[in-house]
Amino acid sequence: MKKKKIAIFTSGGDCAGLNAVVRAAVLRADSFGWEVVGLLNGTAGLLEKKPQYKILKPEQFNGNIMRMGGTILGTTNSRDPFAYKMDNGAIVDRSDELIKAFKDLEIDSIIGIGGDGSFAILNKLVNQGGLNFVAIPKTIDNDVFMTDFSVGYDTAVSVATEALDRLQPTAASHDRVMILEVMGRDAGHIALNAGIAGGADVILIPEIKYSIEKIAQKIKEVKADGRNFALIIVSEAVKTPEGKKHEVVYHGGETRYGGIGDYLGVKIAKATGSETRVTVLGHVQRGAGPSYNDRLLASAFGVRAVDLIKEGKFGRMVAWQNENVVDVAIEDAIAKCHTVDIDGMLVHTARALGISFGE
Ligand code: F6P
Repeated sequence: MKKKKIAIFTSGGDCAGLNAVVRAAVLRADSFGWEVVGLLNGTAGLLEKKPQYKILKPEQFNGNIMRMGGTILGTTNSRDPFAYKMDNGAIVDRSDELIKAFKDLEIDSIIGIGGDGSFAILNKLVNQGGLNFVAIPKTIDNDVFMTDFSVGYDTAVSVATEALDRLQPTAASHDRVMILEVMGRDAGHIALNAGIAGGADVILIPEIKYSIEKIAQKIKEVKADGRNFALIIVSEAVKTPEGKKHEVVYHGGETRYGGIGDYLGVKIAKATGSETRVTVLGHVQRGAGPSYNDRLLASAFGVRAVDLIKEGKFGRMVAWQNENVVDVAIEDAIAKCHTVDIDGMLVHTARALGISFGE
């Protein structure tokens, strides 16, 4: 009898824990006697002249792969098959070509590890091609709907918390206000969680409107209480009080958030008279080795995704809800963004600790 063959790939921005997901899926698939094909660079590898993939064997995961950041499969967040940018700059719909490539590989089912952006594209693709697809959520932003946690988020929060721990002594030594700008494209989870864990005085997230005056008032209160420094954490997606986004346009025209920390640094220094410095944490949040929580989540998600294939349940995303792995319809997961609940327990906790949201 022909061996069942499944494909796995990582898509969108990398994060910690991706290799641990791949490992779990390979080990579980092997226990059923299935072959696993790792697609390289998201789905983009299949659109190369010679399709890019490698067969993944359990023994390849004996060493340190689970502990490693990044993804051994490579990834991309700019190769939408429906609007694929060719080398000559032309934008081409290559979705049919990609579906054919999947079929040529004689793959039974596909596991995609991605964020909401990737899932929206992949869902359209698999519906068009009639492919069997299961999704695993990963993103440092933790903005995938219907799952409490996505792979990579816990590690990113640890890195951001550690950054505040390192900023505190230097802030105290120099009597400074330190601003830490962290990632989070559509949601303030990293800033909120690391802000509480790392003892920030002010947390700025896109979900809560702030004013420079209120931030300045908090800094002055901190000083009046006899403390000579203050820590502020701001999510990259926070806008100016007038509603302007701070963005950077990279070579090639790709736009990403960036610059709100510097903007605030100037305003806060002026409003408070305090010496102010800004640290932008950036991709450091993505590159770390996975925390134990991310390894557990990755392992549970990888196993459950393969089990879903075994059960013949497709068009599903594995999710973490109430300390358990469940599965939800991909359509439901991509319908909304998981933003910070401003009436939730963590915002309440922060306020109760005297942390200001600049309101
Ligand atoms: O979505 C993950 C993320 O790290 C965001 O937090 C950030 O805005 C973006 O990706 C950065 O993208 P890139 O790696 O393309 O610079």
